[in-house]
Amino acid sequence: MDLRIKSFEEYTEKYALSVENTDQFWGEIAETFTWNKPYEKICNWDFETPDIKWFVNGKLNITENCLDRHLAKRGNKLALIWEPNDPKERFVRYTYRELYEKVCAFANALKAQGIKKGDRVVIYMPMIPELTIAVLACARIGAIHSVVFAGFSAHAMADRINDAQANMVITADGLNRGAKQVPLKRVVDEALRTCNSIEKVIVYDCVGWSPNMVDGRDIWWNDAIEGMAKDCPAEVMDSEDMLFILYTSGSTGKPKGVVHTHGGYMVYTAYSFQNVFQCDESDIYWCTADVGWITGHSYIVYGPLLSGATTVMFEGVPTYPDAGRFWQVCDKHGVNQFYTAPTAIRALMAYGEDHVLSYSLDSLKVLGTVGEPINEEAWKWYHIHVGKERCPIVDTWWQTETGGIMISGLGDLSPMRPAHAGFPLPGIQPVLLDQEGKEIKENKVEGYLCIKHPWPSILRTTYRDHDRCRVTYFSHYKGYYFTGDGAKRDENGMYRIIGRVDDVINVSGHRFGTAEIENAINANGIVIESAVVGYPHEIKGQGIYAYVVCESLPEDRETARAEIVETVVEQIGKIAKPEKIQFVTGLPKTRSGKIMRRILRKVAEGESDKLGDTSTLVDPDVVDEIIKGAL
Ligand code: PRX
Repeated sequence: MDLRIKSFEEYTEKYALSVENTDQFWGEIAETFTWNKPYEKICNWDFETPDIKWFVNGKLNITENCLDRHLAKRGNKLALIWEPNDPKERFVRYTYRELYEKVCAFANALKAQGIKKGDRVVIYMPMIPELTIAVLACARIGAIHSVVFAGFSAHAMADRINDAQANMVITADGLNRGAKQVPLKRVVDEALRTCNSIEKVIVYDCVGWSPNMVDGRDIWWNDAIEGMAKDCPAEVMDSEDMLFILYTSGSTGKPKGVVHTHGGYMVYTAYSFQNVFQCDESDIYWCTADVGWITGHSYIVYGPLLSGATTVMFEGVPTYPDAGRFWQVCDKHGVNQFYTAPTAIRALMAYGEDHVLSYSLDSLKVLGTVGEPINEEAWKWYHIHVGKERCPIVDTWWQTETGGIMISGLGDLSPMRPAHAGFPLPGIQPVLLDQEGKEIKENKVEGYLCIKHPWPSILRTTYRDHDRCRVTYFSHYKGYYFTGDGAKRDENGMYRIIGRVDDVINVSGHRFGTAEIENAINANGIVIESAVVGYPHEIKGQGIYAYVVCESLPEDRETARAEIVETVVEQIGKIAKPEKIQFVTGLPKTRSGKIMRRILRKVAEGESDKLGDTSTLVDPDVVDEIIKGAL
């Protein structure tokens, strides 16, 4: 159960073992979990197909490992602390036994509504305890959950529902976010106009509105759980049965459904959680992510609960009612491990130190960051003002596809260097490849970040399109999983992630494909074509810069911009709003019709003097116009 490495020397030993004898290494870890039937083999894999199986033919249910197995020893220990958006409202605390009962009751409700093993359930909810309960209840009965972040639009949700051919949506009437309330059920209703697969919608009463309820389709959460038993036998799952689908953006227009499975995901999220955060039994751990993203799945819900930890879930935003909210919550609940995104740190930095200095923060032991590279200035601010120079910062690099943290410090055990994620976790074998796809063995180098051996929580497929998984991750460099990131390795072997090398933009730690945003912009009637690139943004890390071609240059550019932004909000959601929209008469294209994004990127970055070779362009004049009109 205790999977923690206790010193850096032990890390070095374990790392060596994990490479030399992978089966022994993972076998010792996997053994500590509850299996209904033991696995027959640790791992079968080939990166060509790809065909990856962990804990082969083992039978288990991840929720028995999150809940049931803790009941004897930790039944009265807090599993979940929920902090509401409004600090004046009461917080909620559930012990492991209470959470177990709530999950079981809701699992029984799902069954009563006709949901069975293998069905897909889309969850579109606020950051409230019922979201965690819904996720675990699906896993309990073997339904595949697909959480859609509650900031996505009706259009984006409909795409995901249709791709997953989901049977049910679980949602709420609305959500609280800072000073605002957002009508979720209305968005669901709109999405469902174009979805045929949904039979039932369960609605949690979160903000006390009276949304439209469709007869025979929609049911209130409280009615659904009425009279349900507080025990529900867990469905026995195969290690490789699907646990969830989580949609994420890539370099093509359509988000893909990354698939994770019961056995491997369980072992790796628990192992990485315990080692990276080094929680003691009585610690309070808080990850500020949303359960709508992989960070919330792995490190609010599964990793902490599998480990018997106390996990905090926060409904609100860092700046409401003021920019001290995070720190107030840390003091209020005595948070020991605090895990957030560089964007949040940079946003709070902009409000000055006073908000942090008003709180003691003396419970903090470990700080974490995730989602995007952290710049040195933000790292130092976090280290000095939040961590008081006594808390290590774990800069955790990983992805939706990796399921768990891959490269990171381990609590205070590892050497730390600002803006460096550091060393790989045991079991993870990163390599840097050069342009030709050859491994660069030395240190003090830079290359494409790939992984050369599977780990238990590697994605297994992209839902209903296995070939897309092969092409995206396993075809660039034969025999390797390609991350899409570029990285440096310093003289000591520590990794520093530079950022994406594909057409993916990382805005506030959220991934968008340039093609996905272009498709959204092109859905506006006045647009003929567009090209989107990222540019450095002080708070968001990257911002979205769109070059847009219309039939004729719009006379009222501000109105045209507002309309295009509105279309993007409709198609994807507010999180994908382009920051800058430049109207142009044409895009720089090669003779084969390919847009030369390198040029557009340089202009957006304010480096028009470093465009490089433009001789292969069909119409080089277009570049002068673009430079002159740059925003
Ligand atoms: O570019 C890397 C960046 O986020 C990408 C993964 O995004 P997503 O699947 O949405 O998952 C985010 C949360 C795990 C990566 O390809 N990224 C993630 N963590 C870091 C990072 N870049 C630099 N440093 C990190 N710690």
